[in-house]
Amino acid sequence: MKTIVINGSPKKNGQTMSLTNELISKINGDIEIIHVYDYMPLKPCLGCEKCKTQSICSQEDYFGDVLKKIEDADCIILAAPMWFGNISGPLMSFLSRLNVWRNGYETRKDRVHSWDKAGVLVMTTGARWKSMAKSVEATVEFYFKEMDALMLGSIYANKTDVLPSKNNFYALTQCSYIADQINTWSKNKEAGKNYVYGYSSWNYMDYEENRK
Ligand SMILES: Cc1cc2nc3c(=O)[nH]c(=O)nc-3n(C[C@H](O)[C@H](O)[C@H](O)COP(=O)(O)O)c2cc1C
Repeated sequence: MKTIVINGSPKKNGQTMSLTNELISKINGDIEIIHVYDYMPLKPCLGCEKCKTQSICSQEDYFGDVLKKIEDADCIILAAPMWFGNISGPLMSFLSRLNVWRNGYETRKDRVHSWDKAGVLVMTTGARWKSMAKSVEATVEFYFKEMDALMLGSIYANKTDVLPSKNNFYALTQCSYIADQINTWSKNKEAGKNYVYGYSSWNYMDYEENRK
């Protein structure tokens, strides 16, 4: 199994990556980490709409290699610090380049969803308020959808201002639970069974649509 981590924090060893490291230490297979900040200055989608007719982004740059890595991965982990109630802006900009795939499914029709990947969100937040995770989860569903990933689950460490994520018992318990889920999912995938598994309102709807 290949796992790719996309880290949207400017910090390679910050709260989000330290929690993500707890998770990946428990999962089997090869792991590659992409730090979004290694790609500065980021080149977000230009909205040029060329990918409505061509399958290659008009900006021929690093993102072609990133797409290849995503394509080759079985499991995708989005490591996202919360910024102003959502995932960090640079992570959003980075992932906006998935538009070239989105138009493949929806406009060019030269791509079909395979849903053969698992997606996991790891999020840390400085503070805590009621239902804060919901907007983030709803947002990442869009990105997972474009990456053919069904969400296996989410891991949250909040109040990192006062409690380091690596000491957050609740988040560490979630890491163990989700790691088990990923390992079981990958065993099933390798055995060719039950690999369409996980949840996502968007993904599930589309999956049903594609089966018709
Ligand atoms: C620009 C910016 C915006 C932030 N917005 C929020 C926020 O809306 N809610 C919150 O609880 N924490 C917020 N934080 C705090 C981070 O979510 C928190 O410190 C996080 O654990 C940082 O993870 P990192 O060390 O991996 O970067 C913000 C931090 C920054 C730098």
